[in-house]
Amino acid sequence: MREGSLVTAAADEDLAAGFDATIAAGDRIEPRDWMPEGYRKTLVRQIAQHAHSEIIGMQPEGNWITRAPSLRRKAILLAKVQDEAGHGLYLYSACETLGVSRRDLMEQLISGAQKYSSIFNYPTLSYADVGTIGWLVDGAAICNQVPLCRTSYGPYGRAMIRICKEESFHQRQGYELLATMMRGTDEQRAMVQESVDRFWKPALMMFGPPDADSPNTQQSMDWGIKRHTNDELRARFIEMSAPQAAALGVTLPGNDLDWDEFWRIVKGGGPCNAQRIAHRKKAHDDGAWVREAATAYARSPR
Ligand SMILES: [Fe+2]
Ligand SMILES: [Fe+2]
Repeated sequence: MREGSLVTAAADEDLAAGFDATIAAGDRIEPRDWMPEGYRKTLVRQIAQHAHSEIIGMQPEGNWITRAPSLRRKAILLAKVQDEAGHGLYLYSACETLGVSRRDLMEQLISGAQKYSSIFNYPTLSYADVGTIGWLVDGAAICNQVPLCRTSYGPYGRAMIRICKEESFHQRQGYELLATMMRGTDEQRAMVQESVDRFWKPALMMFGPPDADSPNTQQSMDWGIKRHTNDELRARFIEMSAPQAAALGVTLPGNDLDWDEFWRIVKGGGPCNAQRIAHRKKAHDDGAWVREAATAYARSPR
C-alpha cells in the first residue's frame, strides 16, 4: 500500500469517528460536516419524498378552492394550500444542502423515480374531505413529524419546527370544519361519516409499512434520522384520534389495513396517481418562463 492511501484511510476513520460521536451525543450534523454516503442518500430520499408530498398534497384540496361553500371557507382553504407550498420550499431547500439540485428533484418526481405519500392519490369527493384531510391527514403528518424536529440532520430538523406549527393549525381548521358540519343537518353528518370512512385507513398507511416490512428503519434510527418505528407512530395516532372521533360523534372504521392496496398505490396504481403527476408536470412546464425570467434577472447587472 502506498503511504498516501494509508494517510487517507486514517483520515477517513477520524471523520467517521467524529460523525459517530456527534450522533451519539445527540448533536446535529450540518451540511459542512463529513457524513457517510448512506446517511446522505437516505436523507435525500426521505426529504425529497417529504417535499414532494407537500406540493402534491396541494392538489386534492386545491380541487375545492373554487367551490368552497363560503368566502370564509375559501380564505381558510387558500391559506392552507399556500402553507403546503411553503413547506415544500423549506424542504427542497433542506434537500439542496445535501448536494442535489431542485431541477433534479423535480425531474425525479415527474418520472416517478422518487415517491410521495400514497394518501394524495385518493380523490376528494365532497367538501367534508377538506375537513377530514385537515383532521386526519395533517394529524398523521404531525404525529410523524414532531419527532423529526429532533432529527440528526440540522437543516431538516429546523425546517420541521416551523412546518409542525403550521400543520397543527391545519389540523385544528379541519377539526373545526367537521365539528361545524356535525352540528348541521343529517345530510351533513352523513357526509362527514362517509368521508372519514374513506380516509381513515389510508391515513393509517401514511406511517409506512409494518415494522417487519420496513428493513431500513433500524439503520435510520441508529443514525438518529428516525426516532420511532412506523408501528409505534401508527399506534400513537390511533390512540390520539379515538377521543377526538368520540367528541365529533363519528365512528372510526377498523384498523385492519390492506397492504396490497398500499403497495399497488405506491407503485402507481392508485385512483389519482397519473392525474397528480400530469398536473404537476403541466404546472412545471407552464412555469418555465418564470424560472427563465428569474434567472435572467439574477444575472442582470444592477
Ligand atoms: Fe404541510
Ligand atoms: Fe398541512
